[in-house]
Amino acid sequence: TVLVVDFGAQYAQLIARRVREARVYSEIVPSTMPVAEMLAKGPKAVILSGGPSSVYEPGAPTLDAALFEAGVPVFGMCYGFQLMATALGGTVDNTGSREYGRTGLSVSKPGSTLFEGTPAEQSVWMSHGDACSAAPEGFTVTASTDVVPVAAFENDEKRLYGVQYHPEVLHTTHGQQILEHFLYRGAGLAPTWTTTSVVDEQVALIRAQVGSSRAICGLSGGVDSAVAAALVQKAIGSQLTCVYVDHGLMRKGETEQVEKDFVAATGVQLKVVDASERFLAALAGVSDPEQKRKIIGREFIRVFEQAQAEIVAEAPNDHPVEFLVQGTLYPDVVESGGGTGTANIKSHHNVGGLPEDLEFQLVEPLRKLFKDEVRMVGQELGLPEEIVQRQPFPGPGLGIRIVGEVTRDRLDLLREADAIAREELTAAGLDREIWQCPVVLLADVRSVGVQGDGRTYGHPIVLRPVSSEDAMTADWSRLPYDTLARISTRITNEVKDVNRVTLDITSKPPGTIEWE
Ligand code: XMP
Repeated sequence: TVLVVDFGAQYAQLIARRVREARVYSEIVPSTMPVAEMLAKGPKAVILSGGPSSVYEPGAPTLDAALFEAGVPVFGMCYGFQLMATALGGTVDNTGSREYGRTGLSVSKPGSTLFEGTPAEQSVWMSHGDACSAAPEGFTVTASTDVVPVAAFENDEKRLYGVQYHPEVLHTTHGQQILEHFLYRGAGLAPTWTTTSVVDEQVALIRAQVGSSRAICGLSGGVDSAVAAALVQKAIGSQLTCVYVDHGLMRKGETEQVEKDFVAATGVQLKVVDASERFLAALAGVSDPEQKRKIIGREFIRVFEQAQAEIVAEAPNDHPVEFLVQGTLYPDVVESGGGTGTANIKSHHNVGGLPEDLEFQLVEPLRKLFKDEVRMVGQELGLPEEIVQRQPFPGPGLGIRIVGEVTRDRLDLLREADAIAREELTAAGLDREIWQCPVVLLADVRSVGVQGDGRTYGHPIVLRPVSSEDAMTADWSRLPYDTLARISTRITNEVKDVNRVTLDITSKPPGTIEWE
């Protein structure tokens, strides 16, 4: 294991992902963890992340210098680099000159462990106020910028390395190469971590955990619950039953995809509950987004509990149903362990995300994985491409994509518009490029149009294509005009009561991805 010490902001997760992309297993630990505890985990290497603070700020996170004496290879990045410099007797000045964004880096030691085989001038991503002016004793300065005399250093004998910039971001052109140099050359690790090893390990763990008991899993049609279910199915077969609650807020073809493709690929026992009447009745007259989300979450739990009771009643003499499978991912685990009180922007409801008072023990086979790794595991398990490469879709479904009251007619209309947009984006080969493209119906807005020979008074549809790495931030996707034109023409021609298609060109922040 490589430990990534988290000094705040969102860098640590990205670093951990990049380490795994280099096929070395990594885990994130908070900077408040005592060094002895970190070492007790037996790490093969430690990476110190960047963070928002200055090493001179009162209350800024610190690190016990004992880490550098433990004989474990360490790589400090940005804030981690400055901590390393100060802890080992180098000089970090509060220069007042800040460096943000893309910067030119001049490599002075091209044959060094980190920089070997990379160009003498390279583009790196900086974000810092303080700058290192003198490396600690025993260290070689390997690169600099116009502003920072010591932008990278290394002590090969002690296997300690550092760079002032962010190798983990894509704007740093040779970032991944430098990280790999640290892992393979500096720390002597081999790229052996693969999804096959994950599947084998998880199957054994699930068998040991569940024993002869039974488990249930809520399927949402999304990637995470599908892969979690497939993994558990592989481990315990018919001891697992999946429950798919059709709340009537799904997109076109979604329920069928779960019923046919997923079952065909996994052979799982599936219980489909058609609860659309119930959800629509509960949502009648409600326009407030938060209220919609709460209602959908509440109804979902009720329907799920009922399904669970039925499963027990159908085979009362079988082993008890003690386990609940959840598709929890690593970012959720890291974020909930972080304990930072972030503002509640929206109450996210995860279909499958059930309250703990359901009195189940949880089986969470994906809790160490990032989304792209979950996709690879899904592929490994033979799930169809349409499920594995599926773009994110919110648990409350189309219910939060109708601005205004949710009714059956409006859902039907939005489903048609959404299906057209998805079809055209797929036909244009853009599925991988965009993160997701919510299609939103402004049900409470009307606009005048002219269709055929007459005046119409219909509703606008909003296209919200975004690109993102993790949905925390997003930018609007610059889709080709031709594709947008085709979507617009088809939607206005084929979907009754829609006479206008608009494009949302807001990034996140300030806008969120979904409209509600
Ligand atoms: P926002 O709108 O907050 O969305 O920028 C970020 C990502 O989360 C998805 N999303 C949800 N997913 N339950 C979910 O499972 C929810 O309640 C929910 N709300 C938003 C959204 O589609 C985007 O990918």
